[in-house]
Amino acid sequence: MTAATATAEAVEEFLRKCEASGDEAYGAFRSVLEKLEDPSSRTQAQVFLSDLQKRVDDSDECLNKYHFRIQDVVLDQYEGYQGRKNLTMMVIPSIFIPEDWSFTFYEGLNRHPDSILKDKTVAELGCGNGWITIAIAEKWLPSKVYGLDINPRAIKISWINLYLNALDEIGQPIYDAEKKTLLDRVEFHESDLLAYCRDHDVKLERIVGCIPQILNPNPDAMSKIITENASEEFLYSLSNYCALQGFVEDQFGLGLIARAVEEGIGVIKPSGIMIFNMGGCP
Ligand SMILES: C[S@@+](CC[C@H](N)C(=O)[O-])C[C@H]1O[C@@H](n2cnc3c(N)ncnc32)[C@H](O)[C@@H]1O
Repeated sequence: MTAATATAEAVEEFLRKCEASGDEAYGAFRSVLEKLEDPSSRTQAQVFLSDLQKRVDDSDECLNKYHFRIQDVVLDQYEGYQGRKNLTMMVIPSIFIPEDWSFTFYEGLNRHPDSILKDKTVAELGCGNGWITIAIAEKWLPSKVYGLDINPRAIKISWINLYLNALDEIGQPIYDAEKKTLLDRVEFHESDLLAYCRDHDVKLERIVGCIPQILNPNPDAMSKIITENASEEFLYSLSNYCALQGFVEDQFGLGLIARAVEEGIGVIKPSGIMIFNMGGCP
C-alpha cells in the first residue's frame, strides 16, 4: 500500500466513525486532539487534519452526515483588520455554531482602537469554538488570551482550532510579527464565567464576551451537572440560554452579564475594561 493510499484509507475510516453519531464524531476528534497535544505526534495529526479538510466540504450536508464541519472564517472585511485573511475553524453540533450575533460582536471589538487589546491579558467568556479568541490573538497580539466556556466539548474543539491555525498544512509552526505562534498567546479552559481565572489567580486587563441573554424556558434543565457526556441538545442549549443568576438584571435578560461583571471586579486590574454583547451590540 502506498503512503497516499494509507492516508486516504485513514481519512475514510475516520469519516465512518464520525458518520455513526455526534458523540462518535466528538470521540474521534478527541483522539486527534490527544495526538496534537503530544509533540511527538503533532505534525502527523495536523497533516491528517489537512487531508481530512481536503476530503470534506464546509456544507450543512457535511455537518448533518459526519457531525462536524471545517470552514474558513473570513476576517479582512472587518474595520482596521491586519493579519491573516482567513482562519480555519471546525464546529460540531453540540457547541455553538457562529451566527450573526457573534460576528456582530467581533465587528464591534474591531471598532475599538488597537491599543484596547494589544499586549494585554484578555479573557473571552463563552468562547464557543474559539474563533473570536483566536482572531483576537491573530489581530492584536495580546500577551495572553484565555478562551473560557462552560461547555467541555467547546473547549476541546477550541484547542483543535488553535492547533489548526497555529500550524501550517505540513505541521510547522506559523510565527507572527513578534516571532510567537498562536500557541504562545492562547489557552482554552473549561470555566463557569471567570472561575478559571479566580481559581488560578490570573489577573486580567480585558474581559470580553458574547454570552447568552435569554432565560431557559425550562429552569430545571439548567440545574443539570455539565459534563462532556451530557446530551448534545443540552450542551448546545448552553449557547443560547442561561439560568436565573439571582440579580435584578435577570428580568432584562442580563443576569449572566451581571454575574460576569461582579466576578470580573475580582480578577480585573485597575483601569481594566469589560466589553459584553448586550441586545446584539457590543
Ligand atoms: C452565543 S455563544 C458564543 C460563542 C462564541 N463566542 C461565538 O461567538 O461564536 C455563547 C457561549 O457561552 C457559553 N456559556 C454559557 N453559559 C456560560 C457560563 N456560565 N460560563 C461560560 N460560558 C458560558 C456557551 O456554552 C456558548 O459557547
